[in-house]
Amino acid sequence: MINERINNAYDFIADKGNFSPKVGLILGSGLGDFANTLENPTAIPFGDIPNFPKPTVEGHTGAFVFGKHKGLEVVALQGRIHYYEGYTMEEVTMPVRIMKKFGTHTVIITNAAGGVNESFGAGTLMQITDHINFSGGNPLIGPNIAEFGPRFPDCTNIYTKDLVEKLNQAATKAEITLQKGVYIMFSGPNYETPAEIRFCRTIGADAVGMSTVPEAIVAAHANMRVMGISCVTNAAAGILDQELNHAEVVEVANRVKADFTKLLSLAIEIGSGK
Ligand code: HPA
Repeated sequence: MINERINNAYDFIADKGNFSPKVGLILGSGLGDFANTLENPTAIPFGDIPNFPKPTVEGHTGAFVFGKHKGLEVVALQGRIHYYEGYTMEEVTMPVRIMKKFGTHTVIITNAAGGVNESFGAGTLMQITDHINFSGGNPLIGPNIAEFGPRFPDCTNIYTKDLVEKLNQAATKAEITLQKGVYIMFSGPNYETPAEIRFCRTIGADAVGMSTVPEAIVAAHANMRVMGISCVTNAAAGILDQELNHAEVVEVANRVKADFTKLLSLAIEIGSGK
């Protein structure tokens, strides 16, 4: 039972310190360095946690890092677990439920994504306003875990509108260009075909990726507030006359690190209610 695994992992982590992060961060491909900036960090590698999934992708080290950012207590997931690695969606979303058990009320989910909207080129930062679950899976399939939330959770406002607006204003003030858009998830691991990208555009998506949606659904189920930030690392397939590769994704994510870090800092303050 997944709940037993979540409880065991929680007990193991809770034993390592007195943690009560109000904000949780999930750091996407090439964006994990932010966890190294936390004050007073305690890192708990996934590999140490009993019966816990381990990330297998290059560019993703796996650890919970508890610490402070500008005096605010947070937990960062450095290296998420992906559906395409062969884990179930229940496993992929274990960290979010563990955060919930620590009292986290707001999750900031980040990712590297392809730009479907033709005006979102490499290096664009996009705030997620909504998503399309095109992954073929759903983390809530199976017996409902009532401890976390209801059988049929509402998803009208997953990416909390009020927080979207606050971050938008803060970004403008800090002179960070921040777009807004809809994120669509494919399972991956292959990048999409040009035909799939045209389809994505037709149905209203602005950015495409292989993560975030499961975590956002599980957070919404548990009545947590969600902020989503995509770092567009490339124009999606078929837009430019070039092929896509993971090295480029990581390279671009690294290139926008300065603005991304500032944005994340603002998001933490807003998410904490400061
Ligand atoms: N497609 C899917 N996932 C991605 C992409 C993309 O173009 N870029 C970075 N992650």
